[in-house]
Amino acid sequence: MGGKFVDNFRVIEIKALNSTNFLITIESENDLPEIHPGQFVNIDIKNAPEVFLRRPFSIFEVDYSKKTISLIIKILGKGSKKITEIKQGETLNIIYPLGKGFTYPKTNDNILLVGGGSGVAPMLFLAKKSGIKNVDIILGAKTKQDHINVDEYSKYASLYFTTEDGSLGEKGYVTNHTAFQQLSKFTKIYACGPYSMMKTIAKEAQKAGVFCEVSLENLMACGFGVCLCCIEPTKKGNLCVCTQGPVFNVNDLKW
Ligand SMILES: Cc1cc2nc3c(=O)[nH]c(=O)nc-3n(C[C@H](O)[C@H](O)[C@H](O)COP(=O)(O)OP(=O)(O)OC[C@H]3O[C@@H](n4cnc5c(N)ncnc54)[C@H](O)[C@@H]3O)c2cc1C
Ligand code: FES
Repeated sequence: MGGKFVDNFRVIEIKALNSTNFLITIESENDLPEIHPGQFVNIDIKNAPEVFLRRPFSIFEVDYSKKTISLIIKILGKGSKKITEIKQGETLNIIYPLGKGFTYPKTNDNILLVGGGSGVAPMLFLAKKSGIKNVDIILGAKTKQDHINVDEYSKYASLYFTTEDGSLGEKGYVTNHTAFQQLSKFTKIYACGPYSMMKTIAKEAQKAGVFCEVSLENLMACGFGVCLCCIEPTKKGNLCVCTQGPVFNVNDLKW
């Protein structure tokens, strides 16, 4: 999947989506390379000596004509907080597009997308870019307030929600949702979210005999295969999640 670039992007919009999630749209002076759902950027955190390493974030939206990329940044610690404090007109230095994205579905596929927490961004990008009719998407969060507004995605997919407290959609985890109980009606399942969620989805997809790819959010540093801090043991050996992932076919994982 193409080369990677280091580039200074100008922040053209920063918008709070809820109390912890921000949408940041950044613009390059250069034409963008082809970018696939599941790929990510590694951001240099400026003016924060305590945050030494870059931080990885999935690419949420791309506009090739405007040369813009959008990211959804959830505040977790110092690095993500610092990014959300950036002002319009300032620059962000990123390395991109990193990693391998999801395998594109075929037009006659019936696909289920499952996103939890910050895993929502690549799932919405895939829903939009897949260009197919039969797309169901289950998005999970702790509470209604933790969900972002995704109404515009109803043109690309049937949207379902879960919350742990039942304040939006069905109560429980994404894997408790009614739509997740009929896995064999899907030809492909794609998921991104916390490790334990990926493991449960992988197990259920394998049980149902359905093709399944998951995107892993292992801790990363360099983002391009040098530091080996993101290693995942797989049936093909120890693989760097940043270069050989973050998307893996569940049959290749040692789970
Ligand atoms: C490929 C990839 C794509 C990602 N996409 C997104 C995205 O689109 N939006 C988004 O908001 N976040 C995304 N993340 C997660 C994001 O990279 C982390 O939230 C961020 O690096 C945390 O940095 P920090 O300095 O804010 O927190 P830190 O101060 O570094 O960490 C705060 C706490 O969170 C834990 N932590 C940090 N990173 C992770 C992680 N990846 N998984 C589990 N625990 C972690 C730390 O161990 C620590 O306990 C992605 C991660 C990866 C690997
Ligand atoms: S983050 Fe350095 S090798 Fe993957």
